[in-house]
Amino acid sequence: MTVQSSLAQRVYVNSQPGRERLQQSQQLLKVSSNENALGPSPLALAAIEETLSGINRYPVDDEVFLVQKLVQRIGGGLASDQFLAGNGSGDVLRMIVQTLLTAGDKVVIAAPTFNLYEILAKNFGCQPILVPLRNYTIDLQQVLDAIDETVRMVFICNPNNPTGTIVTHAEVGAFLAALPEQVIAVFDEAYMEFADDPDFPRMLDYIQQGHRIVVTRTFSKLHGLAGLRIGYAFGDSDLLARVRQAKLPFHTGRLACLAAAAALDDEAHIAQTIALAQSGRSYYYRACAELGFGYVPTQSNYILLTDLPLPSEQIAVAALSRGVMIRQGETFHLPETLRITFARPHENERVIETLRAICG
Ligand SMILES: Cc1ncc(COP(=O)(O)O)c(C=O)c1O
Repeated sequence: MTVQSSLAQRVYVNSQPGRERLQQSQQLLKVSSNENALGPSPLALAAIEETLSGINRYPVDDEVFLVQKLVQRIGGGLASDQFLAGNGSGDVLRMIVQTLLTAGDKVVIAAPTFNLYEILAKNFGCQPILVPLRNYTIDLQQVLDAIDETVRMVFICNPNNPTGTIVTHAEVGAFLAALPEQVIAVFDEAYMEFADDPDFPRMLDYIQQGHRIVVTRTFSKLHGLAGLRIGYAFGDSDLLARVRQAKLPFHTGRLACLAAAAALDDEAHIAQTIALAQSGRSYYYRACAELGFGYVPTQSNYILLTDLPLPSEQIAVAALSRGVMIRQGETFHLPETLRITFARPHENERVIETLRAICG
């Protein structure tokens, strides 16, 4: 099993009884990594099939093609030099840290949030300053308060992973207006397509106003292409010119670029995926109320469960023994919580039945 899992889950999976129990259980249902339960975009699959016989060639202009598509899709008058693709948005974030920061720089990061920002900052010799969430939400005023003249970058995950909460357009506007010149703001919008709150930020407005921002997005979630590894950034062209220096020749693969370009046009798959997340939300809200669990209202394709009747590690290990892999909050320092990805209706029901059997 190569999926990310907690230590207790790994110990369980690697133990003899654990392996036997998993083999006996129904097929493993993985709702721990916020992947797309519908599968990949069919248009992306068709593009891959079409390209397969051409993978003896290096990717000469496939990324250019993808960037052209992104220019059309994102619009707002952005030019192609305001975009950059990478092998997943994790790779894009790595290039951002590698090129825009210098060892010793300070970086402000909300906590808990997607853990890669802190890992990258430390890997490149930078010093993370963690700002706790308020009511499971990034508090941009507190983030500002943590910024002094030694800080060079701030990461905002919106919607925030693992809590699913957002910062709003107005909050971001006030934040950017007060942000000191020397601080680059990176907005990670890996899950933005799932947000339906009308106050979700329109980052294009702020890029057009000339703020020093980079926005990252991914094809791993909405488009179901996590295994292909393709993501992108857009924003300030001077910053992106520097980030581009971290790219290798032929950085992204042919299949990944052409599949991603096709997925952008797959309106049906996009609509179905968003609808699945929306139905998952209402189902889980009802089910949590019935089970007496707390939850954080979510703008994403996952939900954070709180107020659990048992320790979350115990629940996660017991769920795994029944073939359901969920993310225990311990991995992001919220040990009293669980994060679960929305899946297809019968899968959501299986997760809830499993939780009921364990906690009921
Ligand atoms: C908030 C956030 N950003 C970035 C990523 C990285 O995604 P990828 O590298 O697959 O594009 C993830 C993956 O789970 C994520 O949750």
